[in-house]
Amino acid sequence: MRITDTAAIVTGGASGLGGATAAALAAKGARVFALDLAGGIEKAPEVAGVTYVEADVTDPEQVGAAVEQATAAGVPLRTVVNCAGIGPSGRILSRKGTHDLGLFRKVIEVNLIGTFNVMTLAAEAMAKTETLEDDARGVVINTASVAAFDGQIGQVAYSASKGGVAGLTLPAARDLASQGIRVVTIAPGIIDTPMLATVSDEFRAGLAASVPFPKRLGRPDEYAQLAVDIIEHDYLNGEVIRLDGSIRMAPR
Ligand SMILES: NC(=O)c1ccc[n+]([C@@H]2O[C@H](COP(=O)([O-])OP(=O)(O)OC[C@H]3O[C@@H](n4cnc5c(N)ncnc54)[C@H](O)[C@@H]3O)[C@@H](O)[C@H]2O)c1
Repeated sequence: MRITDTAAIVTGGASGLGGATAAALAAKGARVFALDLAGGIEKAPEVAGVTYVEADVTDPEQVGAAVEQATAAGVPLRTVVNCAGIGPSGRILSRKGTHDLGLFRKVIEVNLIGTFNVMTLAAEAMAKTETLEDDARGVVINTASVAAFDGQIGQVAYSASKGGVAGLTLPAARDLASQGIRVVTIAPGIIDTPMLATVSDEFRAGLAASVPFPKRLGRPDEYAQLAVDIIEHDYLNGEVIRLDGSIRMAPR
């Protein structure tokens, strides 16, 4: 599918993987609507072709309004990239007691339910667009994590949310096949984004050393490149693609 002269929604589009993807799609000629929280948008750079829209991915009304804005762009909405996410950690049992149930719910709410909410409301709008070759209408790209498969100690909530995103990929692709909408999930390894900003240089170097090859952290533009490849490759559908330098995470 061609990206030029289409509209795209990128959630978490003010930072990290979403920010890089929004910029890459805009550079390819898309009208990009980058959905994020107010706090994220405040810090976001100005990028030609990218319009920031304040919306919490878990809120159907806010996402519905953002989808309407994207649909009114004058070019068809063909792409959704779900990058909004949070990654707090916590063990089931620790010296502080049991895992906070509210935190578990929050991680599932943002990472899994937020992804589902945006995918569903955007798919409804995409299903009304004119068809392209092969009766195609568009593509949804979701973001899981290698933690969906090899979650570490303290990642029980995060892994459960990302396992959910990986698990819904095939049934979502099957559900939306009759509308000509593909669904593909990217499962990144360790990518150097603001989400990693809090870790020390020493810890970061340890993480880089644990990647078999290339021996470094991934870059946000490498995620964006894969998102572009998925959009342009019409036969990729219903699959979870690891983007991780072949890392397999140890328990800790
Ligand atoms: N960076 C990594 O190493 C890595 C690895 C695997 C998976 N991921 C996943 O990739 C995605 C992007 O991560 P990142 O590293 O770019 O993080 P990031 O923190 O740089 O960006 C995430 C963005 O999501 C936004 N966001 C959070 N909650 C939101 C909500 N409820 N509604 C709207 N926006 C919201 C934040 O404001 C932020 O701008 C996340 O889903 C993350 O779990 C990241």
